Amino acid sequence: MKALSKLRPAPQVAPGPNGPAMLRNLRQILGDPTPFLQQCARDYGDVVQFPNPGRPTFLLAGEDLVKQVLMDAPRYGKDTPQYQSLSLVTGEGLLSADTALWKGQRKRVQPAFHHRSIRNVIHITQAEARVTAERWMQAGPPCFVDAGAAMSDVALRVVGRSLFGANLTGSSADLAAATEDALTAVVQAARVPTGIRDWAPYPAKRSLATALTELDNAVDLMLAQAEAGKLDTEESTGFLPILMDNTEVQGTELRDQIVTFLVAGHETVASALTWALYHISLDRNLQGRLQHEAQRYYGSGDIAELNLAGDTVAEALRMYPPAWLITRRSLVETELAGVTIPAGSLLILSPFVLGRDDRYWPEPERFDPDREIPRQPTGAYFPFGLGSRLCIGRDMALLEAKIVIAELVGRFWLGPPRTGHGRGTTVPISAGVTMHPRDGLRLSIRRVMRSAAAEQK
Ligand code: HEM
Repeated sequence: MKALSKLRPAPQVAPGPNGPAMLRNLRQILGDPTPFLQQCARDYGDVVQFPNPGRPTFLLAGEDLVKQVLMDAPRYGKDTPQYQSLSLVTGEGLLSADTALWKGQRKRVQPAFHHRSIRNVIHITQAEARVTAERWMQAGPPCFVDAGAAMSDVALRVVGRSLFGANLTGSSADLAAATEDALTAVVQAARVPTGIRDWAPYPAKRSLATALTELDNAVDLMLAQAEAGKLDTEESTGFLPILMDNTEVQGTELRDQIVTFLVAGHETVASALTWALYHISLDRNLQGRLQHEAQRYYGSGDIAELNLAGDTVAEALRMYPPAWLITRRSLVETELAGVTIPAGSLLILSPFVLGRDDRYWPEPERFDPDREIPRQPTGAYFPFGLGSRLCIGRDMALLEAKIVIAELVGRFWLGPPRTGHGRGTTVPISAGVTMHPRDGLRLSIRRVMRSAAAEQK
């Protein structure tokens, strides 16, 4: 009887789609659920209840509600299917750890993300982005590049050197593939109830095991190199030594943190960069302005010049927030927008839905780097989350992304992508753990002609 009650939908306390409507949209929900979430918010309002079996599930689609939940960590925990399945890969690292464990962990690693420490990320990113530019030059004009793969590769090399002092150049493709396989499996695992997951042969279970072995081997290699003094931790942010020298880091925490930061620190940045490059490739005028800015920066070496590149990244994060879904579990009964939310409810918050809501953004479907984007996160703009669980890598990611844009867009003209859907037309979204162009992003590139003097710099 108890098992049967788990299959029954929870009592309805807020409007929302019924069972048949969910079934009608099942294909879309399993493919790219973002349009369905947007439609639900339009049809039912700021609190939408889904007819899921077991504990009540709500989408919260209003600015104030997002703030209310994310700014109140003690009342809303991370014991959700999203984080349970992510922890199959990252264990109890900083991203998935629930509140009690998280506090001590965050305190330990925070110094590696102070402004002083992340200054080192600047020259590492410049060097690694120039490696990518060099490869694109070798490809010979005119040519096509797989921009998604290139962004994943550069982001992984930057995180490897910045956090671990490790040169991942040789292994970055394997590690990127392992991360991608692991995250695909995480999405599929999230759809399988926890108790069943251990024995159910859900798709991608085998590739998850292979990917975990690959990630664990990378961690073992890094730790062995660190023990042997072979890592260049001097140039890094000091993240790895902070962890290795800390006697409070117990059991598997070292492994879990390394995998967490490898995964969280590269897929997200790669996604933001890919979408930014996509829109840059569609807009000749924007490209011209970015090239001007990049030329000034090549001359001065001053990243403070890169305002437009920063604004372009911020706008890409509004329209395509890599972490498009953030979930919480309500630990106590609460009231949100007049609705009584029972303790134990699953709460879904989406920076994608809020970022494209015309109540907060005029013409939300238009990519416009000149629009006003708040510097600090708000309930309508929270690609890095909000409150105490705000992304620890935010400043590093923003710095890294604008430098990569400047290093590439200053050297190459990007042509619009060719997709199965036509040249330069809308690229379909794949919304897994992060948000990517569904069929990748192939861009044509052509070298920008510059004076010999500028080329020397
Ligand atoms: C564009 C790039 C990035 C985006 C969009 C992004 C997004 C996010 C979001 C939304 C959260 C909060 C999740 C929640 O509240 O449930 C988060 C947390 C986190 N991110 Fe990022 N992130 C990015 C880059 C990075 C980088 C570069 C690193 C590491 C080098 C990183 C490491 C983490 C970690 C460890 C957490 C957990 C923080 C905590 O709970 O204390 N992220 N990120």
